[in-house]
Amino acid sequence: MSIQNIMVIGAGQMGSGIAQVCAQAGYSVVLHDMQEEFVQKGIGIISKNLNRSVEKGRLDESEKEAILSRITASVSLENASNADLVIEAVVENMDVKTQLFKMLDQYAPAHTILASNTSSLPITEIAAATNRPEKVIGMHFMNPVPVMKLVEIIRGLQTADDVYETIESVSKKLQKVPVEVNDFPGFISNRILMPMINEAIFSVYEGVATPEAVDEIMKLGMNHPMGPLTLADFIGLDTCLYIMETLHEGFGDDKYRPCPLLRKYVKAGWLGKKSGRGFYNYGV
Ligand code: NAI
Repeated sequence: MSIQNIMVIGAGQMGSGIAQVCAQAGYSVVLHDMQEEFVQKGIGIISKNLNRSVEKGRLDESEKEAILSRITASVSLENASNADLVIEAVVENMDVKTQLFKMLDQYAPAHTILASNTSSLPITEIAAATNRPEKVIGMHFMNPVPVMKLVEIIRGLQTADDVYETIESVSKKLQKVPVEVNDFPGFISNRILMPMINEAIFSVYEGVATPEAVDEIMKLGMNHPMGPLTLADFIGLDTCLYIMETLHEGFGDDKYRPCPLLRKYVKAGWLGKKSGRGFYNYGV
């Protein structure tokens, strides 16, 4: 399958990064969100990233302009009618995603592949909301997308082999390393990472140590580049909570119970770096 036009849905931290790497690889990209100001915010993040690359001498001004010119803003899902591949990166919520995939299934041509950047939600269930389950696949990028090499590719129960192969080759064209996994809650990355983050939060909740101490121990003791609570703030505490809930519901085991402190922070609007406050204060 030949992919030329890519539509990215959701212009937040992941969607803007995905749009950037697609445009850098030469694809023509439509970046879509619910409101024009959200899309412009995403394009602003991309411009800032590209400016930094120009300053560091990795890109020249004309290349930057060429990359930006390949990105078009959208607030209408009807624009899916031109896409060969749609990559969804909206909030980690099954109802929102299935609603969206139902609509995409209506607007996108029959050949279009519908991919989700979900961190943990079952691809098979998202696929079942469409009439093309064989063309639905998980394409899980890591944050920050322009920097991180991995794309975890998740095969839904009915994902066709040629769809998998197309997404594998697109990932390589984006200069990423694809790794194949099957569809189980949290896939591999978050099945392993998120219980560790949740345990770090429990350690703070139970008064065993401060967030700074927990992070310092995991950095210096385990050689992690970033402590689990700094990482949680970076991922977004709302996203962490959604992922823990998905693991808890999917496996039914108490070991995946989200820490009450995580729930409390999310209820308070402390979502981590993106909201200015999480386990740390970002002074916004
Ligand atoms: P975010 O909160 O930064 O961005 C989400 C964007 O989606 C917002 O701009 C919002 O306006 C938009 N949106 C929400 N509902 C929409 C709809 N119905 N139609 C169009 N746009 C809509 O979230 P983030 O961090 O970018 O996460 C997005 C997805 O990527 C989630 O599924 C998350 O689990 C996944 N993910 C997140 C990672 C992270 O480190 N934050 C890493 C890998 C995957």
